[in-house]
Amino acid sequence: MNYKKDEFFVEKVKSSFLAKKYSTPLYCYSFERIKDNIQSFKNTFKTINPLICFAVKANSNKILLTEISKLGLGADVVSGGELMKALKSGIKPNKIVFSGVGKTSEELKYAISKKILLINAESKSEILEIERIAKNKKKKIDIGIRINPNTDAKTLSQISTGKKENKFGISEEMTLDLIKYINSSKNLSLKCLSVHIGSQILDHRPYEKTLKVLDKILKKTKFSFEYIDLGGGMGIDYDNKNKKLNLKKYCLSIKKFLRRNKSKIIFEPGRSIIGNAGVLISKVIYIKKGSRKDFIILDAAMNDLIRPALYNAKHRIIPVKKSKIKSKKNYEFVGPICESTDKFLTTKKFQKLKEKELIIICDVGAYGMSLSSNYNVRPKPAEILIKKSKIITINKRQNLRDLM
Ligand code: LLP
Repeated sequence: MNYKKDEFFVEKVKSSFLAKKYSTPLYCYSFERIKDNIQSFKNTFKTINPLICFAVKANSNKILLTEISKLGLGADVVSGGELMKALKSGIKPNKIVFSGVGKTSEELKYAISKKILLINAESKSEILEIERIAKNKKKKIDIGIRINPNTDAKTLSQISTGKKENKFGISEEMTLDLIKYINSSKNLSLKCLSVHIGSQILDHRPYEKTLKVLDKILKKTKFSFEYIDLGGGMGIDYDNKNKKLNLKKYCLSIKKFLRRNKSKIIFEPGRSIIGNAGVLISKVIYIKKGSRKDFIILDAAMNDLIRPALYNAKHRIIPVKKSKIKSKKNYEFVGPICESTDKFLTTKKFQKLKEKELIIICDVGAYGMSLSSNYNVRPKPAEILIKKSKIITINKRQNLRDLM
């Protein structure tokens, strides 16, 4: 995805053509990017040969999941709905792990009936519920325990999950007791120790600290786990400043860890697989002049992409057609929704825009469409996938009839 001459292309297709044909706002993904991201993830961790389970919450489009599955990935799901979608997309049950603090009885029964690889339990109550279901069905179920390592992932507080004040995982002391309990149960088989400390992590040190906590627990229990699930959370470079997580260092620490503990590693990446593979094409509806800044009112809004409103996340905005004329004032890119948080970005020195012109909101492949809503009774945008010059509609635009 890049400029050719002065126009933004998604692979071999002009973005202005896409906007004209499919209307805006429009989610648009590059297959090549997804493939490259998966290949580079695999290459980085080649020496430890992990099972890579794509975090479906990042993007649950069925056709994208099918493509991701064909490229060899399994799935990390957090609800019965995500599990059903993963299965319907062709992902094999033996490559699916189920996380989450509030799995209902129905969801657990469904997961058990589909014989997925692992249910990663997050509380004693959940373990007892799985045991109860397994007893009724006269089965032995493979489970994992998700620990809370009390590690600061050094990311936004809203997407941090590994500190003791967060609802996720089980404390070290309680984990030791539960390991004993599970190992004495006739209906549970303990297979995995799992952890996930947060999302959009750009510093490898919190991961290293987490490995130390895992090490400590493993030393104390002396139980050897078939799997160690290290979760996801690998951050991406949203502001294009080449700020990168040092995955090589992370991989080295995992290799050291594996010398002491022989287990198969599972990863659950979401954002690092799909984040930079998606853009949102949007049209300027009006330009509203202000005294200090001009409001660029887009046809995309916080219901289409909520990350800026929810986390104050910054997504770069770039023009579809480049020009050399600069705007005199700052621009604030906003949506039409009746909320002051419905704004995407304030920029200095953007090129001068006109009404009806098109812009691109970058890096929205993860937690873009999957967090979208119908707030203000706004239909959800269409999604398309580009493979070189081929355009595939992977989700039709909702219409108002769908919402009545
Ligand atoms: N595994 C578990 C158990 C998770 O809870 C998550 C994300 C992942 C894996 C994938 O993390 P990733 O590799 O994508 O960072 N809506 C927020 C992100 C929430 C992440 C929740 N859990 C955002 O837009 O930044």
